[in-house]
Parts: sequence; C-alpha cells; structure tokens
Amino acid sequence: MSKKSNYIVGLDIGTTKICCIIGEVIDDEKIDIIGLGQYPSKGLRKGVVVNIDSTVESIKNAVEEAELMAGCEIDSVYVGIAGGHINSLNSHGIIAVKGREIDQKDVDRVIEAAKAIAIPLDREVIHVLPQEYIVDNQDGIKTPLGMAGVRLEAKVHIVTAAVTSAQNIVKCVNKAGLGVSDIVLEQLASSESVLSQDERELGVAMIDIGGGTSDLAIFYQGAIKHTSVLTIAGAQMTNDIAIGLRTPNAEAEKIKHSFGCAYSPIISEGDNIEVPSVGGRESRTVPRQILSEIIEARTREMFELLDHDINESGYREIISSGIVLTGGAASMQGMAELAEDVFQSPVRVGIPMGLGGLIDVVNNPMYATCTGLIQYGSKRVKTGPIRELQGRNLFDKIFSRMKDWADEFF
Ligand SMILES: Nc1ncnc2c1ncn2[C@@H]1O[C@H](COP(=O)(O)OP(=O)(O)OP(=O)(O)O)[C@@H](O)[C@H]1O
Ligand SMILES: [Mg+2]
Repeated sequence: MSKKSNYIVGLDIGTTKICCIIGEVIDDEKIDIIGLGQYPSKGLRKGVVVNIDSTVESIKNAVEEAELMAGCEIDSVYVGIAGGHINSLNSHGIIAVKGREIDQKDVDRVIEAAKAIAIPLDREVIHVLPQEYIVDNQDGIKTPLGMAGVRLEAKVHIVTAAVTSAQNIVKCVNKAGLGVSDIVLEQLASSESVLSQDERELGVAMIDIGGGTSDLAIFYQGAIKHTSVLTIAGAQMTNDIAIGLRTPNAEAEKIKHSFGCAYSPIISEGDNIEVPSVGGRESRTVPRQILSEIIEARTREMFELLDHDINESGYREIISSGIVLTGGAASMQGMAELAEDVFQSPVRVGIPMGLGGLIDVVNNPMYATCTGLIQYGSKRVKTGPIRELQGRNLFDKIFSRMKDWADEFF
C-alpha cells in the first residue's frame, strides 16, 4: 500500500511578489516540490501589509495557481514575516532540575524562564530559538534530555514583532480562506533553504535582499545568534535608476533586470544601453557604466549598514565561512563582487537546496524564503493530509469559494 501523502505549504508574502509553494513529504528526509504559484504583490510597503484587500487578492491568485499545478487543495500555510518592526535579542534562563535527570518538562520550564523578559504590550514574541544549554556549568550542550544534573541553563535568541503587523498577516491569510500553521521570520526560513549545516556550524552571515527589506541572520555552532531587518533593498535601487536616468519606474525595473550590475569595475568600456524617456520624449543611449554606478552607490550603502550591524552585534569574528546572499536582488550581476569588497569576507549567492521534485522551477534566490518555509515546517512536523482537487471536491471547492464571496457581501 502506498504511503499516505503529506503536504507542507509555504506562503511568502513579499513586497514584490506573493509566492506559494506546495511540498510533498515523501519520507522524513525528502520533500518534493509539486506546485508553485506567484502573483505580483501590491499591498505591502517595506515588508509590512498596508492594503489588506489587495494582499488577499494576490494571495488567492498565487494559491490557486499553486493548487492547479499540484492538483490538490491546501488548508493551511507557513507564512513569513519581515519589516522594520522586527526586533531580536539574546536572553537566558536558569532552573533547578526537579528529578534525577533532565526531562522535556525541565527543558520547557527553562525556555519559559528565558522568555521572561519585559516586552511592551504592542509587541509579541514570534520565536524563542534555543542556542545552547548549560548543565551544571558544562556549556555547548544541544540536547540536554536524559542528562544528569541539578542546574539547567538555556541561552536563547528571542524575536519579537509588532502585534498589529503580525495580526494583519494572519488576517490576510484567513481572508484568503487558509489557516496559518506558523508565522516564521523570513531570514530564518531563507536560511533553512540556502545554508549548509557546515556553514551554520562554522559561522555564517546570511543576507536576504528582497524588494522592500534586506534581512540579516548570523549563525554559529548550528544556532542563530543575531537577526536584523534593514529597509533598503531592490525597490530603492529601481527608484534610484528611475531618478538618475530620468525614466519611468516600470522601465527602470526592466533595465535593472536586463542590464543591472552592482559592481562598476566589471563593466567593459563602450557598453551602452537604450533608456526610454518620460513624457513621450525620444529614448537616449546611456553608458552601462552610469547605470552600474547608480546601483552600486545604493547597494554599497546597504552593505555598509549591514557591515556596521555585524560589527555592532559582536559576531564579526565568528563568521568564518563568510557571507551568503539570497533573495531576488542577489541574482544581479556584480552583487557577490561588491559584497566581497565591502565585507572583506568570502561571499556566495545561495539558491534553494535540499529539495526534490520540480526543483528547476524554484532554482532562483528569490524563492529561498518560500522553499525555506516548507523546510522549516517539515522540521516542526505539523503535516496533515489534504483533499485531492478532483471531481466532486473540485465542485465543493468552487462552491465554498462562492459562498465566501457571498459572506463578504452580506
Ligand atoms: N535578475 C535580477 N536583477 C536585478 N534585480 C532583480 C533580479 N531579479 C529580481 N530582482 C529584484 O529583486 C527584488 C525582489 O526580490 P524578492 O522576490 O526576493 O522580494 P520580495 O520577497 O517580494 O520582497 P521582500 O522580501 O523585501 O518583502 C526586486 O526589487 C527585483 O527588482
Ligand atoms: Mg522576500
């Protein structure tokens, strides 16, 4: 008898695009990508929902496309969260072990103790990520279960978000007819997809450069040490091109995709591009060097701010395996070269890995968050069988969607 299929779904509500990827869990180790749907996102600014209706519409479109591709219907999703409102800090807790050896209850209690920090009412904790446990002064323990000891300490990384921003994400997903399995910090999701275990152990900084935010996460000894979100990303580069080359925003975006380069020294001399003008004026020929200098100025500023953040975090010395860039803007030519120049560390561009099935479809850094949400979800083992989109169920589905529309009207 064939094994009952389980599905995990990632929904990345990005500033540029909303993306839904369906993964099928084959066994504990293997997940196959079976569907992807994507739709432009218009209801977000700098990673935060600012227009619920437009976001719900985009979610519905992306989900429908993914469902059709996968031939199944989904109930709930793992959804990402980002934006300037995200804060993070390291904390630690201590408890006395009750029995002779440490059990799950002790671990839960020590995590609770570490969570006991003063958080303003308008913020909520979205992650408590254990870094290491210390049993009777012995540090560096990853799983203390079953160990003998009298005193248990936990070092954790706590991520908090503005209550309203998190609520708006859940609201959008629910209004699109789906449940939320979990809200996951976007760089935590991306890191599941693009970092190797060796890099996490040795020390690495991952930067996800999207449209509205650039998200940083630092890992060392397999645990997350520092996270931060910067609100400079691809959209600002497009804006700079539009102003610098006096061209409409949509044209600037096209030019960036086709000819953009973040490191001007690698542009050969005499390389020219055609730039459409505004107000029906004739298009002009501009050296590609100029375009590259505009992009480089903004990208360098962004990397310098991130470099400053890494230095301030105190983890500069531990990132021995260097920097991994991901997110849509990381696919631009010259990104790795410029980053190496600023960070003075080895840099690579990370694409989703560790998945099977339709991997060619997600073979781009812009899908790192969405595929990572699936990988994060699979580790949390919250899978559930879902109904096949066939025959009567297809009719039921259309009927239930129509009923939802009716509910919205009356
Ligand atoms: N080939 C490319 N060259 C240059 N820029 C690119 C390329 N592909 C994508 N981008 C840029 O990447 C950005 C989108 O990246 P991504 O899809 O990761 O963003 P997002 O997840 O929607 O946004 P965010 O994570 O900030 O909310 C856009 O600014 C886009 O212009
Ligand atoms: Mg993103």
